[in-house]
This record gives sequence, structure tokens and C-alpha cells, in this order.
Amino acid sequence: MEYTEKVMDHFMNPRNVGEMEDASGVGTVGNASCGDIMRVFLKIENNIVIDATFKTFGCGAAVATSSMATEMVKGKTIQEALTITNKAVMEALDGLPAVKAHCSTLAEEALRAALWDYAQKNGIEIPGLEEPKEHSH
Ligand code: FES
Repeated sequence: MEYTEKVMDHFMNPRNVGEMEDASGVGTVGNASCGDIMRVFLKIENNIVIDATFKTFGCGAAVATSSMATEMVKGKTIQEALTITNKAVMEALDGLPAVKAHCSTLAEEALRAALWDYAQKNGIEIPGLEEPKEHSH
């Protein structure tokens, strides 16, 4: 399977790249098998994700999925943000080659890790959100 046009577009012109200085939550995850790292920054106000950015040391598929995931999460409530799974991101990109499917899990995990960080900082519980697994290998 080739990369879809949407994947190529988000790889060549990634949206929302960069650090966020006043982020409400930051999540960093790594993929133990390839060593790639992804960090997601979220700005949350009144339970709504009003902005999202990312930085990644990762492959093209990781760049494309983070770009799409940050686009998808903007404007969503925290509960809605939890529905952004790697499957949903892959579907939004019209699919990824099977060998690259694991790359899209980074985006989902980083998103959830950033929400977790936000919840920790604010002493709140987000139903359905579990503490991110450690990825130190
Ligand atoms: Fe590592 Fe894609 S090969 S995230």
C-alpha cells in the first residue's frame, strides 16, 4: 500500500508544529521499537481544547498522524478528545500502510498523556483516562 494523498499532505505540510509556551498539558511518549519520540502540547480552557501543537522526532507517518491528531482535537471537549484513537486518526488520513500502523499509536498516546498531565496539574479526574504507560526502554 502506498501513502495516501492526505498522509503525504500532512507529512509535507504538517499542521500545528512547534512548542507551546503556555500549554495546559504536555505529553511525551516514545516508541520502544523504533526509538521515535512525540510530544503534544494542549491548551485547554473551560473543558475545551482550544489549541494543540506537537513536536516529533519521528518518521513520516508519525509526523502525518500527529498533524492530523492535533487538527482533530482542536475545538473538542476533553471527553470528545478521548475518542481520538489511532484508528480514528488513520481513518481521517484515508489509511496507513500496515507496517506503519504502530506509528499512529504515538499520536493517540501523546494526546492522552497531555490530557493526563492537564488533569494532574489541575487535580481533576477525567473519566475513561488512565495514567499513561511508561515507555522507558
Ligand atoms: Fe517510529 Fe514510525 S517508525 S513512529
